[in-house]
Amino acid sequence: MAARIPLRVDHGLPRDRRARVLSDLRISVIDRCNYRCPYCMPEDDYPRDHKFLSKANRLRFEEIERLARLFANLGVRKLRLTGGEPLLRRELPELVRQLSAIEGIDDIAMTTNGSLLPASVNALRDAGLDRITLSVDSLHETTYRELSGGRGEVAEVFAAIGAATAAGFASLKLNCVVMRDINDGQVLDMVEHFRGTGHVLRFIEYMDVGTCNEWNQDRVVPSAELRERIGARWPIRPLPANYGGEVAQRWSFVDGSGEIGFISSVSEPFCGDCTRARLSADGRLYTCLFADHGHDLLGPLRAGASDADLSQLITAIWTARDDRYSEIRGAAGSNSRERVEMYEIGG
Ligand code: GTP
Ligand code: 5AD
Ligand code: SF4
Ligand code: SF4
Repeated sequence: MAARIPLRVDHGLPRDRRARVLSDLRISVIDRCNYRCPYCMPEDDYPRDHKFLSKANRLRFEEIERLARLFANLGVRKLRLTGGEPLLRRELPELVRQLSAIEGIDDIAMTTNGSLLPASVNALRDAGLDRITLSVDSLHETTYRELSGGRGEVAEVFAAIGAATAAGFASLKLNCVVMRDINDGQVLDMVEHFRGTGHVLRFIEYMDVGTCNEWNQDRVVPSAELRERIGARWPIRPLPANYGGEVAQRWSFVDGSGEIGFISSVSEPFCGDCTRARLSADGRLYTCLFADHGHDLLGPLRAGASDADLSQLITAIWTARDDRYSEIRGAAGSNSRERVEMYEIGG
């Protein structure tokens, strides 16, 4: 397994009950999506007339910028824009421009399904977006369509990769959620396709996020099994983490054709150094991907709370945090409780 680098020591910053700092804020800008991936937003649960957040109940850009600035003061260095599908939020490059001006923020990334990327990728780059992660669950037309809930075409992925590369995003991260008997037979084809391109393909273990994907352990393909299958064809070796608390374990091809990653939340949980918080589009702060509730920041913000009040509130939420869901998955009660949906906090 790739070695994990210990967390850096930052005196004076809020730490949760497990001594974890808050260094990574993931901001969901919209709860809507044009896809209906069965592992996230199955079509039957979210038909076309499903009521998503109204504009009035969504954080405005200046509210997001203000909160992000306060989070940066509390130690956040990385921002990631997510959705639903973040590119459904109009004028997104303007938000990126505002966020990139915040002192202390070193890195702004976005996770997208890519279908709307070609139209705005240049503007996003010019506004200061540093990195893009694309969801690519399959390169086979039928499987891709199935895993997007009948909404996406694999050609759109190629168009998105082409547009992003042309705009200067030389190395993309490509996320593939692996589900047994659905797309796990295509893993080697995907590796073959992306090896040597400079893009980093990452295989994500199918997770029991949200309440409606009817998750079943039998559908999970442990990363160790994938590494064995991939390694038998192209020898691979572990790489050290890029930073403390990195979600993906990095492996490189021995023949020098680049790297791949494994995100193993089910078989090898990584809660011990989880420094991530998530802000939903309606201004709730979630301290875990599997949280049963979020803490309202929008209410106090619109009621006139000062920066100091809001920072104090965020600090209180973070210092009370004790989450480690992936480590206790399966323990009594952990599977039956309420859970935030993935599309509300963007993964
Ligand atoms: P960088 O290392 O900054 O590139 O980010 P990342 O690898 O965290 O990015 P990304 O958002 O692409 O994360 C990949 C996937 O890993 C997410 O979509 C989730 O499915 C999963 N993931 C990310 N963070 C967590 C986490 O804190 N807990 C769990 N259980 N899964 C996570
Ligand atoms: N299990 C694993 N990954 C998931 N994602 C969404 N739902 C799940 C799930 N149930 C991932 C998507 C995308 C990101 C937003 O979250 O593949 O990369
Ligand atoms: Fe949309 Fe991403 Fe969820 Fe798929 S995983 S439905 S693309 S938010
Ligand atoms: Fe962090 Fe919760 Fe994921 Fe564990 S399960 S790594 S605490 S978000």
